[in-house]
Amino acid sequence: MNFKEEQEKKVREIEAIISRYLPAEKGLQKTVLAAMNYSVLAGGKRLRPMLMREAYAMFGGSGSEIAPFLAAIEMIHTYSLVHDDLPAMDNDEYRRGRKTTHVIYGEAMAILAGDGLLNLAFETAVQAFALGGNAVQIGRALTLFAQKAGVYGMIGGQCADIEAEDMGSRVTEEQLLFIHAHKTAALIQSALMTGAALAGACEEDLAKLETIGYNIGVAFQIQDDILDVTGTTADLGKSAGSDEKNHKVTYVTLKGLEQAREDQKRLSREAVSVLQSFGNRNLFLEQLVEALITRSH
Ligand code: IPE
Ligand code: IPE
Ligand code: MG
Ligand code: MG
Ligand code: MG
Repeated sequence: MNFKEEQEKKVREIEAIISRYLPAEKGLQKTVLAAMNYSVLAGGKRLRPMLMREAYAMFGGSGSEIAPFLAAIEMIHTYSLVHDDLPAMDNDEYRRGRKTTHVIYGEAMAILAGDGLLNLAFETAVQAFALGGNAVQIGRALTLFAQKAGVYGMIGGQCADIEAEDMGSRVTEEQLLFIHAHKTAALIQSALMTGAALAGACEEDLAKLETIGYNIGVAFQIQDDILDVTGTTADLGKSAGSDEKNHKVTYVTLKGLEQAREDQKRLSREAVSVLQSFGNRNLFLEQLVEALITRSH
């Protein structure tokens, strides 16, 4: 099997796991449940659960307690997208090849669907305790998972992102890196660190994965900023040109396209070389990070 085929197979496996943890659309709250499923089932690259699963395997994990965490991180990521697209935030109408949740279900339901997914992520992750894993390792994973999604992680980055709108050249490189490191890299770090912690990785290895996750995450957001300028809505499956519309300062506006491309590649290659330094290597994971350099959506 070549890399692409292996990746597609893994996406299918992850989607089967995610769907097991999605709610049945019934009861008086069925509208919010349908809105939650609508956004999660729209697809997407499933990058975060894939990174989590590969990190878990890299550290010798082979149990089933990883499954609820795989679904949970995709729920957190999807909620962040539903809220990111709201009129009060980036005000975008397309996501994952479909109309955004608020366009279909209205703003109130999109806010609640995001809230619902955020909460369901924790309801789901704690199910790991009933699946026979090591309780201390699950507790460590849960702690990392919670922190990276919160105000000291992803939400903190979204706050800084919104406040930097319209600031133009007053946004410093340091500020932009804070935004990228938090709004995007935090969940990538969460994926790698949570997966490794569940498999019992030591603190030293978790710290290494935090650095790797920073590099992958910042590179990933730089590529996202590039594609916002160079891609089309059809190719991306989400609204192109969103950053310019919202007067965002991005890596591209700050450094130019060429420098952005160069830095994106350098950060990704750095991540791969740290991955190669582990005694326990995961070749698929290394190929995955390498493939992100040239991703087109
Ligand atoms: C989009 O993430 C938001 C960013 C952090 C750039 P992805 O590009 O991973 O979105 P999906 O999950 O594939 O839709
Ligand atoms: C969003 O960054 C990151 C999060 C949703 C946390 P963007 O606003 O650039 O993401 P897209 O381009 O809408 O996917
Ligand atoms: Mg945004
Ligand atoms: Mg956005
Ligand atoms: Mg973007």
